[in-house]
Parts: sequence; structure tokens; C-alpha cells
Amino acid sequence: MAKSVYVLNGPNLNLLGTREPETYGRATLKDVEALCREAGGRHQLKVEFRQSNHEGEIVDAIHEAHAKQAAGIVINAGAYTHTSIAIRDAIAAVTVPVIEVHISNVFARESFRHLSHIAPVAKASLCGFGIAGYALAIDGLAALIGARRAGERSEQPARPPHKGRAGERSEEPARPVHKRAGRALARTRLVAARQKG
Ligand code: DQA
Repeated sequence: MAKSVYVLNGPNLNLLGTREPETYGRATLKDVEALCREAGGRHQLKVEFRQSNHEGEIVDAIHEAHAKQAAGIVINAGAYTHTSIAIRDAIAAVTVPVIEVHISNVFARESFRHLSHIAPVAKASLCGFGIAGYALAIDGLAALIGARRAGERSEQPARPPHKGRAGERSEEPARPVHKRAGRALARTRLVAARQKG
């Protein structure tokens, strides 16, 4: 069964597209949903996309994600970020990894937006990337949980990280790192010598 990621949106985010476009842009929540589904698809993650203007419904959705053993939660709790201990406690109560997202750079705005009750209980937080932040959050979550990319074969054993670099041909024996460094150093010296003389 495909793993799922819950993308939860808090109050007023249903008005994206027309709400303070100079701060939040012109993209709608439907556009955000499409972006999330595309990002989820890249990692074989099914997306449960929700929006609510009610604190308790967001708490319920966090519990649901936990009960359904979701792989993660991406949450833009909107203004509840700065006020809701109930949402903070719900996140702390579950083991599902949570990524906090904000469309705007909350730290470049009013001081009441600088406090997040969610950040201390989230795995990671990002803000200021516009709606692209949602896709980045899904990519980051996938990296955290080691989700497979679409098309990747599951039978393939993962290559140990010390055995060569990405893109290196597998038949080639990996050069020890100190030898690579030695070569690079020799090249640098050669360039320096040329520049001198
Ligand atoms: C927001 C930032 C919050 O301060 C604000 O209340 C929102 C949106 C953002 O995405 O930038 O509703 O979470």
C-alpha cells in the first residue's frame, strides 16, 4: 500500500489567490494541492490534502494521520501557528514526522508572527519560498523517511555511501578519497606554478 502524506492547511488559506496577493501570491489553494500531488507522486507518496478554518478539525486531522500511519504531515497552520497550543500538543502527541511550512517569510513580518508554537515540535520548518515551500517540504520529508522515487526499483540494495560517488561507473574501482584530494592538490600547485612563472 502506498504511503501517505497529510498536507494540512489552517485558517484563511482557502482564500489563497485573492487574499493579500502581495504577501501570498496569486496561486490558489487548488494550485497548491496540484503542486503537492505532483511532489508526492515523485516520491510515491499519496497526498491527503485538507484545509480547515477550525482549530479542532486540524487537531483531528493530526490524530487521523497518526491513526492511519501516515508517513508524514506537512502543515501550514496559518495564524494558529502563533496561537495554538492544542495543535502544538497534537503534534507532540504523535510519532508522525511533521514539517512546518509558511508561504511568506514570517520572520520578515510583524513580531507576533515570529513565535511559532509548532516549530519546537516539528522535524523541520521552512518559510518564505512562496507556495513552492509545500513541494520542498514534501521533498524534505521524503528524504527524511527514505521514500523511494518513482521508477526506483525496490529489490536493488542501496549502495553503501562510501563506495564511490553518484554517477561513477560501477565497474570502476572507487579511488580512495585521499588520492582524489592528492590529485586535486597537484592540479592546484601546477596552476599556481604556471601563474608564478
Ligand atoms: C502563513 C503566515 C501566518 O502568519 C499567517 O497567519 C497565515 C499564513 C503563511 O503561509 O505565510 O495565515 O502561515
